[in-house]
Amino acid sequence: MTLINEHYTEVNDTYLFSEISKRVSAFAAANPDKKIIRLGIGDVTLPLPTSVIKAMQAAVEEMADPATFKGYGPEQGYDFLRDAISADYKSRDIKIESNEIFVSDGAKSDIGNIGDIFSTDNIVLVTDPVYPVYVDTNIMAGRTIRYVGSNAKNSFLPSPPDFHADMIYLCSPNNPTGSVMSREQLKEWVDYALKNEAVILFDAAYEAYISDPELPRSIYEIEGAKKCAIEFCSFSKTAGFTGTRCAYTIVPKILNGRTKPGGHLPLNRLWNRRQTTKFNGVPYLIQKGAAAIYTEEGKREVRDMIGYYMGNAAIITKALSKAGITFYGGVNAPYIWLKCPSGLSSWQFFDKLLNEVNVVGTPGAGFGKNGEGYFRLTAFASRENTVEACDRISGLINI
Ligand code: MLT
Repeated sequence: MTLINEHYTEVNDTYLFSEISKRVSAFAAANPDKKIIRLGIGDVTLPLPTSVIKAMQAAVEEMADPATFKGYGPEQGYDFLRDAISADYKSRDIKIESNEIFVSDGAKSDIGNIGDIFSTDNIVLVTDPVYPVYVDTNIMAGRTIRYVGSNAKNSFLPSPPDFHADMIYLCSPNNPTGSVMSREQLKEWVDYALKNEAVILFDAAYEAYISDPELPRSIYEIEGAKKCAIEFCSFSKTAGFTGTRCAYTIVPKILNGRTKPGGHLPLNRLWNRRQTTKFNGVPYLIQKGAAAIYTEEGKREVRDMIGYYMGNAAIITKALSKAGITFYGGVNAPYIWLKCPSGLSSWQFFDKLLNEVNVVGTPGAGFGKNGEGYFRLTAFASRENTVEACDRISGLINI
């Protein structure tokens, strides 16, 4: 009989969002007349921007013509997209070369796959609560994970610990808490990583939601970060690509890892080797669509899209304030992290919302021990549904 990777027996049977979806489907099947409003998984609802659609349509035409048809593309992404991303960083005074950018089908995939280039002996550090992918992928690989508590006392923005770690996962704006690190806070982590010769795996999937110029959108705004950080970005939440799939990861050329005998190797070279072996790139027409968001029209459309979702966030935070509920996030971030009312556990509050007012959120306990007693709502629904969900939740809480 074939042996399995035993570490798979150490992770929960289902991924958090699959579990939620299973419970919601069961409720929907038993209550077909109820209108369920989903503020659970962070999935976007607005259609792709017009500029993206136009670019994709033009790319489809190219694929129909033998003179412009494309087969396999570069595994790292087409130059037109890598150059556009590089130029966007440059416009923010950050120098990222095109060959430091790897286009992919998602930040979640890259965050999961990046472990391939690191030893399973590394100590992993995550904050708790945490996006479950950081934890599960490392349990699957058999790495030791250590936690740093993110809680109301530190406003869900923990400082580096006083123990050693080799691989540090950070997310800002944070999923699930909606907290956003200041430059000073991020610098503390960069300094910690440099001191510990560790790598920061910086999940910047929600960077486009930061409107405050004082807050860093990229870890490379911090001095020294290129020597210790890989950055993951995504078009999913920026431009509505959750179903279309396109993202990119930055691996600076000066970032090294250590070999057992004590030598150094560039992680860019290792990641390139991994991607060229295991990945055949993102479809041409998807990359054409992604590149369109860097045009003037695309930038305007993305700004409007983010403005719309942040308008939803403002509606949610206003309703929670009125109901006297403590919450975090919802500013410079599309997630709202609230304290469950009446001392309910996060799954109890989940069931109450689902059963009594047919609204779906995400129980904080699904993100870790410190998430117990908290609950996450997203700003990604339609305006109409967001308003209705807030009315329903307020009605329930004010009873
Ligand atoms: C979430 O709801 O946390 C995200 O949508 C998950 C993801 O982006 O993979």
